[in-house]
Amino acid sequence: SKPRILVSRAIFPEVLAQLEAVFEVEHNQADAVWSAQDLTARLQGKDGVLTTGGERISAELLQACPQLKICANMAVGFNNFDVPAMTARGVQGTNAPDVLTETTADFGFALMMATARRMAESEHFLRAGLWKRWSYDMFCGSDIHGATLGILGMGRIGQGIARRGFHGFGMKVIYHNRSRLDAGLEAACGAQYVDKSTLLAQADHLVLLLPYSAESHHSIGAAELALMKPTATLTNIARGGIVDDAALAHALRSGQIAAAGLDVFEGEPQVHPDLLTVPNVVLTPHIASATLNTRRAMAQLAADNLLRFFATGEVLTPVNTLGAVRR
Ligand code: GLV
Ligand code: GLV
Repeated sequence: SKPRILVSRAIFPEVLAQLEAVFEVEHNQADAVWSAQDLTARLQGKDGVLTTGGERISAELLQACPQLKICANMAVGFNNFDVPAMTARGVQGTNAPDVLTETTADFGFALMMATARRMAESEHFLRAGLWKRWSYDMFCGSDIHGATLGILGMGRIGQGIARRGFHGFGMKVIYHNRSRLDAGLEAACGAQYVDKSTLLAQADHLVLLLPYSAESHHSIGAAELALMKPTATLTNIARGGIVDDAALAHALRSGQIAAAGLDVFEGEPQVHPDLLTVPNVVLTPHIASATLNTRRAMAQLAADNLLRFFATGEVLTPVNTLGAVRR
């Protein structure tokens, strides 16, 4: 009999159709909001699930769904997966890396520029009818070209932003990462490795690209913000929770840093109320990978992982290695 698959959010119909050609599929094209209990109930008897990043695959859920063999995430980040619990139960996890790298780097660069040049704040001013006259110091921001770009978390997307800054805008690029890049990769993006406090102190524009984990939780809090230049900007396109949003709102309001650009939030889609009232922040609703081409490629990769898994037992982009516990 056909493997049984749950597609837990609405996705591209053409990708869903490929799954329906091979599997017995329960979908959620109506995009109903499912609680953890709803998800667990729908997953009863399912062999695989396609998730989109917001659905939590917890140890409790796995215990309640012993038939589940694979969770394919349509996202590069997979902090919604309890990976150790999946591995312990022999459940394969996959993510959707690479296909979104350049699109996401484009957005990170755009958000950094919008932040540095105060595009959201000045647009709100114009729309509110407050623009009566031009003046010499109206909405002065800070330069991108020639400035120091700091990158915390130098994976594929971080390197993409570094290349844009170095080759396109003549920026000085510094970075910090758990491990240092090899010399060839450093040269390709003109990036110089520094320790975290040097990065915070020297960056004119700091961009965060860490994966979210217990270790990266509140990597940027009050103490880190205090090390930054008062003229600096902070851009987060990685995950909410990497930044302490309350501390950031305070730093923005008090002028400890100049501005922030945020595509991700602690507890999103809720946004810390203080971030909604400070003017010097650009806020976007987790759309860094959102071009049609890239979102299609991400959905296709998630589907391809499911198709490959049930055909061969292998996957394209695993997040865990099952080894001896593989079923
Ligand atoms: C989006 O946040 C992703 O992880 O792909
Ligand atoms: C994501 O692909 C990253 O490594 O930054």
